[in-house]
Formats: sequence, C-alpha cells, structure tokens
Amino acid sequence: MDVFICKDSEEASRLAGEQIIKQIRANPALVLGLATGSTPLRLYKELIKACQTGTDFSRVRSFNLDEYVGLPSDHPKSYRTFMNDNLFSHLNIRLENTHVPNGMAHDIPAHCAAYEAEIKAAGGIDVQVLGIGSDGHIGFNEPTSSLASRTRIVTLAEQTLHDNARFFANASDVPHYAISMGVGTILEAKQCVMLCFGANKAKAVKGAIEGGISQFNPASALQMHPNTVVYLDEAAATDLQLKDDYRWASTHKPQ
Ligand code: GLP
Repeated sequence: MDVFICKDSEEASRLAGEQIIKQIRANPALVLGLATGSTPLRLYKELIKACQTGTDFSRVRSFNLDEYVGLPSDHPKSYRTFMNDNLFSHLNIRLENTHVPNGMAHDIPAHCAAYEAEIKAAGGIDVQVLGIGSDGHIGFNEPTSSLASRTRIVTLAEQTLHDNARFFANASDVPHYAISMGVGTILEAKQCVMLCFGANKAKAVKGAIEGGISQFNPASALQMHPNTVVYLDEAAATDLQLKDDYRWASTHKPQ
C-alpha cells in the first residue's frame, strides 16, 4: 500500500487526478471504477479539467461501485444522477459506456450477476476509485461483509444511514438497502485509489492501513491488494502510527 499524506484534500485530489489522467492518456479505453460521496468530487473536477484541456474520454468505460435499491436512475438522489451531474455530463464520455447498478432491478441477484459479467467482459477494472465510510466501508460493504463478497444487495448500517442522511431532505428518506460491488470484486481491480478526508475518517483509516485485515473494517482488505494507493489529508491521517514513515517513503520513491 502506498500512503500519501497530503496538505489537504485539494492536493490529494490533484495527485490522484494526475495519475488517473496519465493512465487514460496511455490507454484511452481505460476502465474506471467510480465512487460517489463528497470525497471524490474534487478528483472529478480534475478529470473534467483534463477533458476540457484535451484528454479524450470518448472510449473510457466506467463501472460505479453501488446504487441505492428503490431509487429510479432519474431520482435526484440516485447515484446515477450524482454521477451524471458531477462527472459524466461534463466529459465527452459516452453515457452507454458508463455503468451504475440498477436500483430498480426486478431480479436483483440476476442483475448483480450481469453486472459482474459486464465488468469481466470489459476486461476488468483498471483503476478503482474509492472513498471510505466512517465505519470502514468501501462501496457499501459494511463491517462484517465477507472479504470475498461479490456484487449483491446489502443492508446499510445504522451509522451509514446517519452519515448519508445529509444528502436527503429527511433522515427517514435514506434507503436501507443498496446494490454494491463486493470486496472481492473491488480487489480484482488492477489498481485501487482510495481517498480519505476529514477527522471523522481517522479511525476507519487507522484500521484500514494499520489494523489487522478484518471484515470489521472492509477497507483493510486493500492490504491484500498488490497495487493500492491511498491519498489522505492531514485530518484523516491523525491516528496513524507510522505517519513519518509514509511521508519519508512518499518523498523517496524510486524514479
Ligand atoms: C457512501 C458510498 C461510499 C463512500 C462513502 C463515503 O456510503 N457508498 O462509496 O465512500 O459514502 O462518503 P463521503 O465521501 O461523502 O464521506
């Protein structure tokens, strides 16, 4: 795991953006795994800026981590709407090349299996963008999710309902179920890029990076991934024991 402790979320998003843009330039048909939440918003602004200044997204494909069950794709709070508004509509990406699970699928298990098959048919995810929940969830893989889990319907933890209530008019509007790529699905991405910002993520970050690998903190499964880069702001890095070592390593990378 490569850990970068950045001055702030702006610097972290810029660095993450630079390396993703470099990969799109090298492989214009890159397959991106994308996340929602407030954390990747600045990174998405970097991608939009890159598109405006000549990076071509017309062959890029994308798969989102998750979607709320019961929200139609055109619902203002659906993750499909979030992605269209905050990223896709500002890029020259073809909408048919973007994939978000369908929260209204009739046969959810069949839809989940088809989603996995589509990822496979695309050649797998090249770069998976991740945030982290305050309880250590990635996608919507809540604590005690199997570290081998695949795309499936999940029950959101009370903490997550509470954390995500800010996006809805009433706390009771937050859907209780979601379709989420599994931890096992995420671990198959060729690279994982996790962004974690703010003091409320410090405990989850500590568990993910320096705790034991455990389903109690699903993000800790990334310790088994051969190519994970984590970008933190100072607040999210507060509880890390080896902060100085991460700073040293990140400023002394081999050429
Ligand atoms: C949601 C998403 C996650 C995201 C998390 C953190 O639960 N399913 O993918 O990482 O929220 O959100 P935020 O970035 O707003 O803190």
